[in-house]
Amino acid sequence: MANYYDNEDFFSGYMEIRSQEMNYNNCIEEPLMLKLAGDVSGRDIIDIGCGTGELSSKLAQTADSVLGIDISHKMLNAAKEKNSGSNIEYKELSMENIGTLNREFDLAVSSLAFHYVENFEKLILDISKLLRKRGSLIFSQEHPMVTANKELKDWINDPETKSRCWPVSNYNEEGVRYEDWFINNVKKYHRTLSTIINTIIKNGFEILEIAESRADDELISKNPKFLNGKNLAHFLFIKARKL
Ligand SMILES: C[S@@+](CC[C@H](N)C(=O)[O-])C[C@H]1O[C@@H](n2cnc3c(N)ncnc32)[C@H](O)[C@@H]1O
Repeated sequence: MANYYDNEDFFSGYMEIRSQEMNYNNCIEEPLMLKLAGDVSGRDIIDIGCGTGELSSKLAQTADSVLGIDISHKMLNAAKEKNSGSNIEYKELSMENIGTLNREFDLAVSSLAFHYVENFEKLILDISKLLRKRGSLIFSQEHPMVTANKELKDWINDPETKSRCWPVSNYNEEGVRYEDWFINNVKKYHRTLSTIINTIIKNGFEILEIAESRADDELISKNPKFLNGKNLAHFLFIKARKL
C-alpha cells in the first residue's frame, strides 16, 4: 500500500490546501460528516485515515474516546501537534491492517480515505468485526463520478455550446486510477456506486443514509472556487449500521 502523504512535496502541498480556512474539507465535507454522526456522546470511535485529526478532535468533544489511525507519520505528527486531547489517541496503522486491533468501537468514521484501499470488501469486513452490535459506520470518499475517468482528468469546455462538462467515461471499468495531485501518479481506486453500496449491504450492514456533496449559492458567493462543486458531487457519504 502506498503512503503518499509522507512524501515531502505531497505533504507540503496537501497541508497548504488543508490549512486554508475555506477549503472543501472545512466548508463541505466535515460539516456533512458531523451532521451524519449526530450526537456521539458516550461513544468509542475509530477514525480511519484520520490525517491531521480535525474530525477526531471535533468528535472527541463529546465522545468517550477516539482512536485515530493513519498510515502517514507526517499526518499523525501534525494531528498530535494540532488536535490532541485527553480522550484521543493517534496510532500509525494502515487501514489494511485494522483487523490487528484488539478493541471494540461504537462508531467507525472515515473522511476521504477509502478510495485509497484496493480491497474494499476486506476493509468493510474488518470494520464490522471492530464494531459492537448496532455500531455505525460513517464515511466519505471521492465520488465515483470523480474517480471514474481514466484519461480525461478535468472539465471539458465545448466551444460550440460554450458549456463545460465533467467526463465520466470508464465509469463501469473498476480498478486503479492515477492522478497528478501535488506529485505524479497518485494511485487510487474507482468502484461504481452499486459496488460500494452492495459491498456494505452484503457484509452485514444496513444503509441508513446516503449523501452527496453540493456547494450552495451562499458558499459560492463567498468564494467562487466552489462553483465546481455546484453541479459536480465531489464526495459520496454513506451512513450504515451493523445488523
Ligand atoms: C485526504 S486525506 C484525509 C485526512 C482526514 N481524514 C481529513 O479528512 O482531514 C486521506 C488520509 O488517508 C490516509 N491514508 C491513505 N491511505 C491509507 C491507508 N492505506 N491506511 C491508512 N490511512 C491511509 C492518508 O495518510 C491521509 O491522512
